[in-house]
Amino acid sequence: MASVSLQGISKVYPGDVYAVRDLDLEIRNGEFLVLVGPSGCGKSTTLRMVAGLENISSGTLKIGDRVVNDVHPRDRDIAMVFQNYALYPHMTVYDNMAFALKMRKVPKAKIAERVKWAAGMLGLESLLGRKPKALSGGQRQRVALGRAIVRQPAVFLFDEPLSNLDAKLRVETRAEIKRLHRELGTTTIYVTHDQEEAMTLGDRVVVMCDGWVRQADSPLNTYQHPADRFVAGFLGMPPMNFMDGQLEHDEGRLWFHGRDARLRLDGAPPEWLQGESQRQAVAGIRPESFELLDAGQNGDGRAIEATVQVVEPLGSTMDVYLQTTSGSRLVCRVPAAPLEEGKAVAARVLPEHIHIFEPNEQGDPKSPTYYGRNLSALQTASV
Ligand SMILES: Nc1ncnc2c1ncn2[C@@H]1O[C@H](COP(=O)(O)OP(=O)(O)OP(=O)(O)O)[C@@H](O)[C@H]1O
Ligand SMILES: [Mg+2]
Repeated sequence: MASVSLQGISKVYPGDVYAVRDLDLEIRNGEFLVLVGPSGCGKSTTLRMVAGLENISSGTLKIGDRVVNDVHPRDRDIAMVFQNYALYPHMTVYDNMAFALKMRKVPKAKIAERVKWAAGMLGLESLLGRKPKALSGGQRQRVALGRAIVRQPAVFLFDEPLSNLDAKLRVETRAEIKRLHRELGTTTIYVTHDQEEAMTLGDRVVVMCDGWVRQADSPLNTYQHPADRFVAGFLGMPPMNFMDGQLEHDEGRLWFHGRDARLRLDGAPPEWLQGESQRQAVAGIRPESFELLDAGQNGDGRAIEATVQVVEPLGSTMDVYLQTTSGSRLVCRVPAAPLEEGKAVAARVLPEHIHIFEPNEQGDPKSPTYYGRNLSALQTASV
C-alpha cells in the first residue's frame, strides 16, 4: 500500500492542448479518491499519468516515497481497470486472472492460491474455466476486478469501470468495489463522470473542469458547500437553480432580491449587514429545497409564482420544471403527487441552505473566483 502525490502535474498534448494544469493532490495511503468532471476535463489523462501510460509534461509524481515520473508502468506497483474490461478473449477466466502473475514469474502454487483468493472475494469460483465470451458484462467486469486484485498492488486505478454495465448491475458492482476497498484497504484512484458514483464511493471527491481542480473535498462538503458555481452546478441532479439578483441590507436584515422573489436571509456574516446597502450576487437553490403550494399563497414571503411546464415522475418523488412569471426556469424535486402541466403554483423555498455566489466569472482560471466563489450558505427566513 502507498500514498500517491501529484505535485504541480501538467499535461500538454501536441498543438498546445492543456489536458491537465498544475495539479496538486496528496492521496493518503488507503484513501479512495474519485476524480469527477465533465467529458474532456482531464480525468483519464491524470489517471494515465499515474499509471505511466502517458508522459508527464511537468511536475513530480510520487508513489510512496519514490518519484516515478520516469519509472516504467510495470514497475510502479499499480493495477488499472478500464471501462472495456480488456480481457484476453482466448484465455479462460483463470488464465486471465493468472496472467500478470505468470509474467512476473510467480510460482505456480502461489498463483493458484492468489487466483482462488480473488475468485472467492468476487464470487467467481464457478466461472474459472469459462472464456470471456461466455460471461455477462457484469461477470466480465468482475473478472477484470479480479485480475487487478490478484496482484495485490500498492494502488488501484479505475477508469469508468462501470459505464458499460446496465443501471442495476452498475449499482451492484459499485457496492462490490466499495466492499473490496473496505476489505483490502488499497489506495484507489477512481475516475468517473457519474456524480452518483463519485458521491457514493469516494472518501474524497476531486471535481475537475478544463484541466483544473475546482474542489477536492468530502462528498458531503462538495454537495453542501460547493466552492464555486461550477461545482454547485455539476454535482446534483437535477442541477442547482441559479438566480441573478442583489443582496440588500436594511435595518440589520439581509434580503436577496431577484426578478421573481424577495427572500429574507438569516445567518449572514455580520459584515454583510454593513457598508454598501446593495451588491450583485447569484443565489443558488437546490431542486429539493422547494415545496409546491397552490397559486396565490405567499408561503411566509418565501414563494415564487410559476407555471408547471413539465412533470417527470420518478416513483416516490417527481421533478417539476417551472417557468416563473418573469420567464426564468426553475426545477423542483418534490414528493410525487398528481400535478397538471400548465397549472399555476407557488414554489416555496424551504428554510434550508441557499447559496450566495459571486456574480461574475472572472480573472485567472486557476483562481477560486473564476466561476463565482460560493460566499456563504444562508437560510431563508419567514417574513
Ligand atoms: N492523445 C491525445 N492527443 C491530444 N489531445 C488529447 C489526447 N488525449 C486526450 N486529449 C485531450 O485532453 C483533454 C482531456 O482528455 P481526457 O481523456 O483526460 O478527458 P476525460 O476527463 O477523461 O474525459 P471523458 O469523460 O470524456 O473520458 C481533452 O481535451 C482531450 O481532447
Ligand atoms: Mg476519460
